[in-house]
Amino acid sequence: MIQTREQFLPFSLPLIGEEEIAEVVDSLRSGWITTGPKVRRFEEDFARYIGARHAIAVNSCTAGLHIALAALGVAPGDEVIVPTLTFCSTANVVVHLGARPVLVDAGEDLNVAPEAIAAAITPRTKAIVPVHYGGQPCDLEVIYALAAQHGLPVVEDAAHAVGAGYHGLKIGCDALTAGQAVTRITAFSFYPTKNMTTGEGGMVTTSDDALAERMRLLTLHGMSRDAWKRYTSAGSWYYEVVAAGFKYNMTDIQAALGIHQLRRLDGFVAVRQRYARLYDEALAALPQVETPIVHGDRSHIYHLYPIRLVPERLAIDRARFIEELRALNIGSSVHFIPVHLHPFYRDTFGYKRGDLPVAERIYERIISLPLFPKMVEQDVRDVIAAVADVAHTYRRSDEQAGLCAPTRSEVLA
Ligand SMILES: Cc1ncc(COP(=O)(O)O)c(C=O)c1O
Repeated sequence: MIQTREQFLPFSLPLIGEEEIAEVVDSLRSGWITTGPKVRRFEEDFARYIGARHAIAVNSCTAGLHIALAALGVAPGDEVIVPTLTFCSTANVVVHLGARPVLVDAGEDLNVAPEAIAAAITPRTKAIVPVHYGGQPCDLEVIYALAAQHGLPVVEDAAHAVGAGYHGLKIGCDALTAGQAVTRITAFSFYPTKNMTTGEGGMVTTSDDALAERMRLLTLHGMSRDAWKRYTSAGSWYYEVVAAGFKYNMTDIQAALGIHQLRRLDGFVAVRQRYARLYDEALAALPQVETPIVHGDRSHIYHLYPIRLVPERLAIDRARFIEELRALNIGSSVHFIPVHLHPFYRDTFGYKRGDLPVAERIYERIISLPLFPKMVEQDVRDVIAAVADVAHTYRRSDEQAGLCAPTRSEVLA
């Protein structure tokens, strides 16, 4: 039996450096603790990094998705196409606007199936919201072509995908749809589990001047001038409310973190990619699990490393597998419970089990393993050893000889 790690390895931990800490302290001492000059600096740095004309900082990706759809005019009676294999916020924001989230199925690569999007388009469709699951971009060529064909805007949920690439271009950059008739907004998350963090926080990017102006307005109550400018020597007390906006602005304390996390992002991603390769190489030897499907034309930044269990080759289910990993001091998680299976979506929109079978089947088998740059290589080896051990211990006894799980030492060899 495997030797259990002494310390529990959580599913995720942020990596905060001294520069971030010093910058936060500087904000606290400066008096600018809400939206101020550091938010502007972070927006400029982010826009440059991504290659986007506009970047607007917000206090979460959820807020970003909300103002994106609001700026596009999503309203009661509209439909918005959303993958079911996502976090609930992607669909919740559609509901907040009084519209109907039309949930669609996943492909085997865990991203939304473009053919499911095509089949869901109706005259009431107002926008398409693909999610770059786990940090691997969706098949954007097909999705943009569909959007252009039907005159629909695309709001990309890039909560997992800051720094990810498609055909050599960064997710959220203007060049992705240059010359194409596609209106596009991209929303990123800086939640602590993400590839870079501001505690809570998010950013939206777009090349569209009018949408950017509208979204900026909506982040702060619909007030016609930035609140922070009101308190500078150049400011004035006067403002006008020109829309019923939200309170979604990012603070300088968050931006202080973000400015330095952004500088370290490429390094963080490189570590995640290296650890993902270690997982790939070792876990490929286990017949009881499947490693992620990765597309060669995309840069996957491995926000998540989801393995899929092969139920026919295991005597335990996913929940028990997670418990066994936990007993070996390895944390893990599940991404995601399909949105259409949640009671609110079932009861409000009439979804039921069986409606979106690919996502349901994925959900029953999936486990996200720990993967974050604060891990050391020994942590990765401990996870591999634990997965191998559980797979071997609970392999199906009626397996054909050829399918027997290798032992932990064989996998680690
Ligand atoms: C796919 C997806 N979209 C949106 C969000 C929301 O991000 P935030 O917590 O920054 O609002 C998350 C959060 O985990 C997510 O996983």
